[in-house]
Amino acid sequence: MQAYPSDTNLIDPDLIPNEGGPPYALFADWRQNDPVHWNPPDPDYGTNLVGASIKQGFWVLTRYQDVFDVSRDQDTFTSHDGGPVIWDFEPEQLMIQQAGMMGMEPARHAQVKRLVLPPFAPRELVAFEPEIRAVAKEIVDEFASQGSCEFVFDVAARLPVYTFCKLLGVPNALRETVFTLGNEAADLENYKLEDELSPTMKLFAIAAQLTEQKKQQPDDSMLSRIIHGEVDGEKLDEMNINMFFVTLSIAGHETTRATAAHFVRLMSEHPDQYELLRSDLDKYLPNAIDEVLRFAPPVVKFRRTATRDTEIRGQKIAKGDKIYLSYPAANRDPDVFENPDVFDITRENAKKHLAFGTGPHVCLGARLAHMQLKALLTEIFTRVPDIRPAGEMKMLRTIWFNGIINMPVTFTPEAAQ
Ligand code: HEM
Repeated sequence: MQAYPSDTNLIDPDLIPNEGGPPYALFADWRQNDPVHWNPPDPDYGTNLVGASIKQGFWVLTRYQDVFDVSRDQDTFTSHDGGPVIWDFEPEQLMIQQAGMMGMEPARHAQVKRLVLPPFAPRELVAFEPEIRAVAKEIVDEFASQGSCEFVFDVAARLPVYTFCKLLGVPNALRETVFTLGNEAADLENYKLEDELSPTMKLFAIAAQLTEQKKQQPDDSMLSRIIHGEVDGEKLDEMNINMFFVTLSIAGHETTRATAAHFVRLMSEHPDQYELLRSDLDKYLPNAIDEVLRFAPPVVKFRRTATRDTEIRGQKIAKGDKIYLSYPAANRDPDVFENPDVFDITRENAKKHLAFGTGPHVCLGARLAHMQLKALLTEIFTRVPDIRPAGEMKMLRTIWFNGIINMPVTFTPEAAQ
């Protein structure tokens, strides 16, 4: 772990790639000495998200209990007023963020959540599992005979996108387009805006096209149910539906693919843990997935805005102040996780991690993500068990995700096992 000066600014998209992950040593320092840390703005920071900048500094929370409490207290710390991400938006952009689930006004959020929840609930997910397993098999069929491949885009990124398409009722003919746009949208601090339309706007256009089709011809897909369902006696408006589509295409995508890549990386870095995992895959895999999410959470932060003057650990927080919830820091808090820097797939409380957030905005897709990861990793470790990174890994340049974007892997081809 690299040592950083205590005044390191988190608004540096090179911080995570340079460290090979979140700056854990820095977080440990703040957690101990400055648990409500003030991070000043960085006027030079730029993003491709039109109408977004970071003009206002923010408070960084690194203790588990603080991240937990603030996430659960939406009366005092809202995702709505300034949106759920750390950028400061121009009014038009902010309205788009607030039309999505993550930034909705709390009362409406609760109603919309009731509408979209059923497909994510255990019973419907169990019925969906065979399809997920079939997709996982299809993905592994593609590379298992090759002996090597690039893991992130050839393997890990496919499952969340294909799952998302099946869930929402996106036809197979559009799958590759959604795959490419989802990849570009997740990379929003780096892609070159050569086109006048951003990947997000292109996803909006696909959502609008599908919405029109499903209005005419309802089916049992999630998108159709949302289009035809009602909240407070009214149908959701177009922007709500488009934002739901885009939120899922980004929220469920970069996160799940990064977790699969971190999983393979961590197994190779911890051969003893991998040996244990392989000794009984069914027994150890579910908890190992949680330990990977604890140890290397793919989402680095979300944001809240104080709705009134308040205090956290004696630090005065003014109405309108931004709060940065650090999931990687919370997940290494020694008050909750014994020897937090040790990677242990048998850790008893691994599930307490905050990689999925907590409270009213807790990840809607957490169970689905688990199911996908279990299906994909079972398929991989059964068919090409000696899979391991080979060569340099490249990380996403961003202040938002702990994401890997290139990880060559090698393995004995399946037929030669
Ligand atoms: C390993 C995979 C995943 C991780 C680590 C992850 C992480 C998160 C986190 C931290 C939040 C909380 C946001 C907040 O409190 O402001 C969240 C929310 C959300 N996630 Fe995930 N996510 C994952 C996979 C998925 C999947 C597969 C889907 C759906 C296909 C999904 C859909 C959502 C949605 C819709 C929300 C917003 C919930 C709300 O505001 O009520 N996520 N996710």
